[in-house]
Amino acid sequence: MLLAYLLRQAGVEAVVLERRDRAYVESRVRAGVLEQIAVDLMARLGLDGRMRREGLMHAGTKLASDGEVFRIDFQALTGSSVMVYGQQEVMADLFDAADAHGVRVVFDAEDVRLNGIDTARPSVTWRKDGVEQRLDCDFIAGCDGAHGASRAAIPPDALKTFERVYPFGWLGVLAEVPPCDHELIYSNHARGFALASMRSLTRSRYYVQCALDERLEDWPDERFWDELCLRLGPEAAARVTRGPSFEKSIAPLRSAVSEPMRHGALFLAGDAAHIVPPTGAKGLNLAASDVIMLSEALVEFYASNSRAGIDGYSARALARVWKAERFSWWFTSLTHRFPGMDGFDRGMQVAELAYIRQSRAAQTMLAENYVGLPLE
Ligand code: PHB
Repeated sequence: MLLAYLLRQAGVEAVVLERRDRAYVESRVRAGVLEQIAVDLMARLGLDGRMRREGLMHAGTKLASDGEVFRIDFQALTGSSVMVYGQQEVMADLFDAADAHGVRVVFDAEDVRLNGIDTARPSVTWRKDGVEQRLDCDFIAGCDGAHGASRAAIPPDALKTFERVYPFGWLGVLAEVPPCDHELIYSNHARGFALASMRSLTRSRYYVQCALDERLEDWPDERFWDELCLRLGPEAAARVTRGPSFEKSIAPLRSAVSEPMRHGALFLAGDAAHIVPPTGAKGLNLAASDVIMLSEALVEFYASNSRAGIDGYSARALARVWKAERFSWWFTSLTHRFPGMDGFDRGMQVAELAYIRQSRAAQTMLAENYVGLPLE
């Protein structure tokens, strides 16, 4: 959707194909932290009205080590902040304004197939309301995730995938209660990771690390709140407001990068090319920076008939992707309990957190990655 807006703004025609319906996309719970680059992009597209009113600017975040909380001041360290505004809200804003901006979206596009991606005249076919549809185009942007038709259309030997699967998941809860802090708290506790996040001043999003084979039935709300409070530590726990959860789910954690991000007329962007664990909330942000780069490449092609941008897209995007992969992998490694961890491993984590607490250099490394590295 962001890419379609960017292309449209530059006078390039695009059609968005979505396999599901609008309600499905808007109800999928995803992370809720936007980097400055994503915020600026919404502004550039004229879509930042509601975000400015309802989003929460966070000038820092908190880290906790065995219950002791300290703050990382993004503003002081980098001059930037982040915006807490759910991915679902971003999607709603993008869909709401689509008609007015001339952005065409086809929902419920079934059986999407990519044809001729190795040729100069690729096409996409799909079925809508039982009727076969076909679109001939110059390029295809594969923004349809790790399990979408785009990735699958690339011959397996033309794509190299590098991956790490983490031996745990996140159990997440949404509740209509005020958050326990005005900023996020990422907590490393001997019992495992916990995260205090939010969607608004009246809606909280909390997570605790759990085993992959954990069952939701074994996590009634009371058990969740008890575990969360233990892991956040007494100071934050005293400010946790408990309430009934209205969403509860377990998500596995994975890091993955596929190279290259282009095959002929097909360009991959977002989760179709790479997956990050949620620690640091880079998923949407990375998709946004991919499509900024892809839009620049495509607009350059149409404006000046130069292929330099489209030929350079994969390498340019991957350079930033790998840095965000490194950060989310590092932040996950720093804050989670790994099976088989011994006293030495734990000592390393605790020492690194203590070092971050006292070192401006270490805090700056965290802060500049968290608010988002520049687009190069
Ligand atoms: C969330 O609010 O869902 C969230 C926030 C920060 C993260 C991950 C998830 O790092």
